[in-house]
Amino acid sequence: MPKPITCIEDLRLLARRRVPRMFYDYADSGAWTESTYRANEADFTRIKLRQRVAVDMTDRSLGSTMVGQKVALPIALAPTGLTGMQHADGEILAARAAEKAGVPFTLSTMSICSIEDVAAHTTAPFWFQLYVMRDRDFIGKLIDRAKAARCSALVLTLDLQILGQRHKDVVNGLSTPPKPTFANLVNLATKPRWCLGMLGTKRRSFGNIVGHAANVSNVSSLSAWTAEQFDPKLSWDDVRWIKDRWGGKLIIKGILDPEDAEQAARLADSGIADALVVSNHGGRQLDGAVSSIEALPAIVAAVGDRIEVLMDGGIRSGQDVIKALALGARGVFIGRAFLYGLGALGEAGVTACIDVLRKELDVTMALCGLRDVTRVDRRILVEGTYPQAASAAAFESLPASLQGSLPGSSPGSTQRPAQRTPGYDPLAALPAGH
Ligand SMILES: Cc1cc2nc3c(=O)[nH]c(=O)nc-3n(C[C@H](O)[C@H](O)[C@H](O)COP(=O)(O)O)c2cc1C
Repeated sequence: MPKPITCIEDLRLLARRRVPRMFYDYADSGAWTESTYRANEADFTRIKLRQRVAVDMTDRSLGSTMVGQKVALPIALAPTGLTGMQHADGEILAARAAEKAGVPFTLSTMSICSIEDVAAHTTAPFWFQLYVMRDRDFIGKLIDRAKAARCSALVLTLDLQILGQRHKDVVNGLSTPPKPTFANLVNLATKPRWCLGMLGTKRRSFGNIVGHAANVSNVSSLSAWTAEQFDPKLSWDDVRWIKDRWGGKLIIKGILDPEDAEQAARLADSGIADALVVSNHGGRQLDGAVSSIEALPAIVAAVGDRIEVLMDGGIRSGQDVIKALALGARGVFIGRAFLYGLGALGEAGVTACIDVLRKELDVTMALCGLRDVTRVDRRILVEGTYPQAASAAAFESLPASLQGSLPGSSPGSTQRPAQRTPGYDPLAALPAGH
């Protein structure tokens, strides 16, 4: 009897057994010392939840919206490159699992299955993630292809114009498909399921790029192309022409600093951007940057309700999801959690990942005394255990007599000004007695 899947860690351990080392390591690693990668997960554990009792817990609802789209639970699958190397046809399988679960799937520019291929094998619109390359003609056409495939949001990633280094990728000689070195062949010999899957598919290279970008027709021309293509000159001004070409919902990914969040909010003020994602790319870029959950409150405080705030980084449980929501995120993206599911069990593993998170989120919400996920706010957290926005901390240092006179606080109240996510009022959020 196979061991039941109880949590995301079960999926990670199974993926580590089944996925060739070079691709498992590619997912389970961060830049340089991996301090930010570790902090993304560790900083969640410090935040404590308030257990509430004797409140009606019937008729609970996890349904919400992200960029105005209905979601069965406030979770989207993050864009991840090379997903089709965790498991044959990985992007198609993950997109199908997401569709069945009623959550958005985001296809990376650096995917193995192409935009058209994923669209042909799914019915729900998915989101497309864009990296901006120097070859603007190629990027323009890529945006057009996402439009033609009926993608319902464009996720523009801003934090990877130059590449951080992951030591394991250098040591493993990461490439797609793997080079037939002695070490790789020995490792592949221990992964028969993966090899069989790969022998049964033609999708083994970057589907969005090969045959579409000028001078890229095979894998060797591709590596030279990617190394020189990420555009270090990308600026806030580029977001405008991208929006013009795209025309639909635009999500800005990779915001970690309140000043950058302010830029994104200005783009929202002028109708260009719809949401930002607080993200450090899963700790894969700037090692030494703050964790995403640490950065979240200051960004929520900086932008108020001018732009929807989403977050990712370190989400491994439903408790992590609810903590991010409590600190002002409208929804979260999951990266490694679903990749481990995919590597472990293919489509069934991604479904298992979403099921685990759904159940944990539901039970956690109930035990915190809530029934509706859109009404989660920081009152479910134990004071003093969660990161504060600098402005909120400064507010707390004011004498109580002054606090009541600030905007957002009622006269005489010592409560911090509420941090809002669009469309919901945290002060009306909790059931009576909470
Ligand atoms: C293996 C891997 C590949 C990734 N590739 C991309 C990518 O192509 N585009 C992108 O915007 N983000 C990429 N990311 C970052 C994720 O979108 C997301 O920000 C991150 O995984 C969230 O952290 P988590 O894995 O702890 O959930 C990648 C992350 C991983 C783990």
